[in-house]
Amino acid sequence: MENEIYDLIPSLSKVEKREVGEHKQVKSFAMRGQKLRDFQIEALKEHFDEYCLVFDENSKLDFKKIFGNSNPVIIEIGFGMGYTTEQIALEHPEVNYLGIEVFLYGFSKLLAHVADRKINNLRLMRFDAKEVLEDMVEENSVDGFHIFFPDPWPKKRHHKKRLIQDEFASLLASRLKKGGYIYCATDWQEYADQMLEVFSRTPGLRNPYEGFAEHVKWRPETGFERKGLDAQRSISEVWFEKV
Ligand SMILES: C[S@@+](CC[C@H](N)C(=O)[O-])C[C@H]1O[C@@H](n2cnc3c(N)ncnc32)[C@H](O)[C@@H]1O
Repeated sequence: MENEIYDLIPSLSKVEKREVGEHKQVKSFAMRGQKLRDFQIEALKEHFDEYCLVFDENSKLDFKKIFGNSNPVIIEIGFGMGYTTEQIALEHPEVNYLGIEVFLYGFSKLLAHVADRKINNLRLMRFDAKEVLEDMVEENSVDGFHIFFPDPWPKKRHHKKRLIQDEFASLLASRLKKGGYIYCATDWQEYADQMLEVFSRTPGLRNPYEGFAEHVKWRPETGFERKGLDAQRSISEVWFEKV
């Protein structure tokens, strides 16, 4: 089924193709496959061009052109099934959102919802967010980053795959506008501690809280947050701003 979709929209398979040769590097994600349902395939066929952006290492994202306005731009990394993304975008039409996710099942599901509800302040991209930020996002151009429940990679030998590390934190900081924010949440205490440490030592960022942030009330519960709560894990939130 994926192959059929990749034949129709070749750019969708760029993530997989990139997994070889000079581009092969430690990734913060594992590719998960799940059979797409008809409504997801339909959404990809009908609405990809309207709501999705394609990775191109040689061009920069022009947010004003993409959204047709100069509203603030928030990038969400790893939106999973996208319920939270959709809700936040619907509740804040005065803000533009770009959701980046490699999981095709979740990506196409959110696309179907975006198209059904004509959510014009939300665009989607199926690619490795690290590469998108490095190659396609200008410095000082983003108003905020949302990273909700990033894969915790709990085994010590997998810690190198965690998204929030020094180099990535510096990349986020460099893409933020002055006053822009990074907002992360996790149910993995030891990863939460790592986030706090990493962002605290990232030049150009400040923590407006003493340690972890207060719960942000406008964030709807995410799918992975529910799993964490069901397993009796507590949630930590981390909020930093660019000075
Ligand atoms: C644990 S899930 C959380 C999903 C959602 N935010 C939630 O809270 O339910 C993490 C997601 O991040 C995605 N992801 C991890 N690294 C990524 C990257 N570098 N670029 C894009 N997506 C990534 C994974 O595919 C996965 O769907």
